[in-house]
Amino acid sequence: MKRIGVLTSGGDAPGMNAAIRAVVRTGLSRNISTIGFRRGYNGLLMQSASNQEDFLVLTSREVSGTVHRGGTFLMTARCLAFLEKENQIKAVNNLNSLGIEGLVCIGGDGTYHGAASLKELGFPVIGIPGTIDNDMSYTDYSIGFDTALDTAIENIDRIRDTCGSHERGSLVTVMGRNCGEIALSTALACGAEVVMVPEIPWSLEETAERVKWAAMNGKSSLIMIFAEGAVNSLTSDVAAICAGDERLQGINPAHLSSSSIAQMIEILSGHEVRATVLGYTQRGGNPSAKDRILAGRMGNYAVQLLAEGIHGVAVGVHGEELIHVPIEEAMNSRIDPQKARDMKDLIETMAGV
Ligand code: F6P
Repeated sequence: MKRIGVLTSGGDAPGMNAAIRAVVRTGLSRNISTIGFRRGYNGLLMQSASNQEDFLVLTSREVSGTVHRGGTFLMTARCLAFLEKENQIKAVNNLNSLGIEGLVCIGGDGTYHGAASLKELGFPVIGIPGTIDNDMSYTDYSIGFDTALDTAIENIDRIRDTCGSHERGSLVTVMGRNCGEIALSTALACGAEVVMVPEIPWSLEETAERVKWAAMNGKSSLIMIFAEGAVNSLTSDVAAICAGDERLQGINPAHLSSSSIAQMIEILSGHEVRATVLGYTQRGGNPSAKDRILAGRMGNYAVQLLAEGIHGVAVGVHGEELIHVPIEEAMNSRIDPQKARDMKDLIETMAGV
């Protein structure tokens, strides 16, 4: 094997640069050169005015000074055109014309779908999990999750201070798409009183009861962690709740925002509740030590596998050990709802409400 490619796709995640660097430098140590494709699968389609916009040769110096940087210097995107077979075939032709013999795809579930389509066309691919969501259960951790948690925790600790001073509740919305991993781990680490995730049905009425009870028991600050996807597991009749109080008339039950959820909990519990959306702060910033180390190990392992002729797989980690599984298996591995329920029980026990 003489030349490989690497790309980052989907939402960026802290540690992606460290993974690219590991791919490039492991390759060079085995006399394999690496081409970096820009903007995920868009780069493979080579539709820009100049080739330099789509790909570049990654020398050792090109990846210098990147191990500690957040984001991805190759840039990333979600490429809808790549869902079309003719574009997948075009990508394989482009890869072949550049003499590329294997492709490392760093990203989440959507990235793995793209990689699986190339595998189906017979092209050697390897997936590296790079997503803050940690939503694929075949691996204990994805690159970026640990940093996103640190960022969320740091911000929520600040929110806790001001909540306590004002004797308020705070509903803090965290990312995670359809997965509650960020919310559950953040809630446990912050000592949150309430957590709402997509994997577990929840109601506004029960939440408000818990808030009331906590306030009655002398809790001066109350942190409620709300996973962005938890809006889909809400069981309450929102229209009926809104109809019952004229202050809630402006809420559209079909498009619930974090502040409207906070407002309903406030009215049902009689306790002041404010909303904060952490948003993209969780995706930026320098990667944590854990993410840098994971990215370095996974990037190195991916190239070793390719060089040994093993491909069509995604790398992951179980405990301290690096593993690989068929990419189709990796992209269909959802988080076990029982694990989410056990975490929620633990969070509620620790909250001492
Ligand atoms: O998958 C990573 C993620 O940050 C999710 O947590 C979030 O739902 C989504 O990406 C946001 O995507 P976008 O960058 O397109 O707004």
